[in-house]
Amino acid sequence: MEEIKKILNPDKRYARIVTEIQKKFDELSYYERSRVFDDFLTCAICTFHNTNLRYRLLACDIENEKKYLEVIKHYKPREQLIIKEILHLFIAAVEAKNYSDPLGEYYEQYFANSRLGQFFTPMEVCRIMANMVINEESEYKTVVDDTGCGSGRNLLAAAEKNPKNFFKARDISLTVAKLCTLNCFMNGLRGEVAWGDAISLETWKVWEVNMMGFGIREIPIEESFYFGQEKEALESLRRRKERLNEKITEQPKNNKNKPDLQFKLF
Ligand SMILES: C[S@@+](CC[C@H](N)C(=O)[O-])C[C@H]1O[C@@H](n2cnc3c(N)ncnc32)[C@H](O)[C@@H]1O
Repeated sequence: MEEIKKILNPDKRYARIVTEIQKKFDELSYYERSRVFDDFLTCAICTFHNTNLRYRLLACDIENEKKYLEVIKHYKPREQLIIKEILHLFIAAVEAKNYSDPLGEYYEQYFANSRLGQFFTPMEVCRIMANMVINEESEYKTVVDDTGCGSGRNLLAAAEKNPKNFFKARDISLTVAKLCTLNCFMNGLRGEVAWGDAISLETWKVWEVNMMGFGIREIPIEESFYFGQEKEALESLRRRKERLNEKITEQPKNNKNKPDLQFKLF
């Protein structure tokens, strides 16, 4: 790490850090790679919990601590140290190059799921798109939404243009949703990231990022400003469908003139 700090050119420093991150993950490659990566993300999210940052580690969130210990206990002290080093490298990478995606680059290399279409947009393309649509003037009014967010590159590029907006993201892959949460946190974006399905609109987890000061907080879906509303709307739609289905199945069945058909909505 000390050696890397001596590299003055930020691009070169960033490239070197990305290689180091990969090497550190390689050191744990006798475990299943995807598990280590996912565990790393969980530990990092727990580390940056809003309570930890707000009270400068003088207070903690009990549930968050439990979650962290549940994951980290599977690693030996030497391995825990490697996980900590990866976290330091991740911070150093974002310091060297703001709005970059070092962990996403690693993810793409090893785990990108072609069935889910997990081909992340190159950062340069995200920047071009952001330049076309993001208004530099707007302040906290615009919601920048990427549903199917991957590692969150479109949000990062949009934040590079105007960090004052509110950012909303969702992905069906839990790992990728965590990755996006971390990227948003590290670059100071404010918003909500969800693990959920953009088609059925089901949401399984929501993280609030940098909303109450800095830090990440997993919140109940009902508490989420955006995903909570969706959940309510979805439930009301379900209730309506059930009522309609009931009405249809309640039709008199012994009416001989009518065909014996039962409709089911959807
Ligand atoms: C082509 S990638 C794009 C990622 C990101 N928007 C970008 O530009 O780099 C598509 C993403 O959509 C996610 N995805 C696929 N089906 C989804 C669904 N039904 N709901 C939410 N996300 C989905 C995948 O996991 C993947 O991360």
